Amino acid sequence: MNVILEIMLASQGWYGLATAQSKIFNSPTNIFEPAATPAHSIFGLSMLVFGITGAIFIVVAGLLLYALIRYRSPATGGENFQEPPQIYGSNQIELSWTVIPILLVVILFLATARVVYSTEHAQRPSEALNVSVIGHQFWWEYRYPKLGIVTANEVHIPVSGPRDHMPTYLTMSSADTDHSFWVPRLSGKTDVIPNKVNEMWFDPEAAGIYLGQCAEYCGTSHAKMLIRVYADSPQAFSAWVANQQKPAVEDPSVKEGRDVFEHNACINCHTIRGTVATGRFGPDLTHLASRDTILSGSVPNTAINLHNFIQNPEYLKPGVLMPEMHLNDHDLDAVTAYLGTLK
Ligand code: CUA
Repeated sequence: MNVILEIMLASQGWYGLATAQSKIFNSPTNIFEPAATPAHSIFGLSMLVFGITGAIFIVVAGLLLYALIRYRSPATGGENFQEPPQIYGSNQIELSWTVIPILLVVILFLATARVVYSTEHAQRPSEALNVSVIGHQFWWEYRYPKLGIVTANEVHIPVSGPRDHMPTYLTMSSADTDHSFWVPRLSGKTDVIPNKVNEMWFDPEAAGIYLGQCAEYCGTSHAKMLIRVYADSPQAFSAWVANQQKPAVEDPSVKEGRDVFEHNACINCHTIRGTVATGRFGPDLTHLASRDTILSGSVPNTAINLHNFIQNPEYLKPGVLMPEMHLNDHDLDAVTAYLGTLK
């Protein structure tokens, strides 16, 4: 009976491990599944470093293990115990353990320098898309200067295939403290810091959503500062651009909610293009309902989440800079309904 139980437990363990593995390898943030040029270069370099350090580990650990077993004392079952030959000073050995590591370090240095240089000094094609990324506590602002679009938390870019090569160049700055932009399948981390503009680029080869995370502790809700990169087909990207360029839709059925929004402090921090709301401190809400998530990718964009967040911002996003507006239930429902129409 016990044996059967143990086999069942063991197979469950293996099953659990296999599921964990498939979760890691199918994860949208898998560093072993690069999907853009910079990520491919970093992956290749990592494999080289891993190969060299792995070989060093095997040689050193193998020699150590051999010495441990071969020369163990008779008290622990060693039969061949004898003092190994003692060598005092050997130019050959000293040269080899000096020259080989120096050569390895030079190889690693040159390979790294090549990847850094080829990523940072890549030829920027004139058709490249420009996006300004501004880090805030705790959300991402995306501005497309040539297209006149401002959005938040979900950045749409065109896919960059061999036929339509259209890489995206990000110009990054921070409105407050240090953040770091990291989408593992697309590129390495780049710091997003005040008073300095950093740049990065990527060219996702397949359409899809690439996830990332703010990778520099920036405050209480740092862990909820997620990144969502939507790589769209050229047609889907054009359609998205055309919709985002429009001013906010006017839906007479939610006029009451719009009035509540415009007669409260909401307008001091948020922009809804085409209305009196022109604040820059919080996310642009002109097309809020066109996004899949709210709160920087941390919850789905549903009416109930929106309602709960406006009612008590601190609950879903600790440390958030948005204050409680103390709206009564009626006004809260009206504002939620209004925001839900901003497609
Ligand atoms: Cu922004 Cu951590």
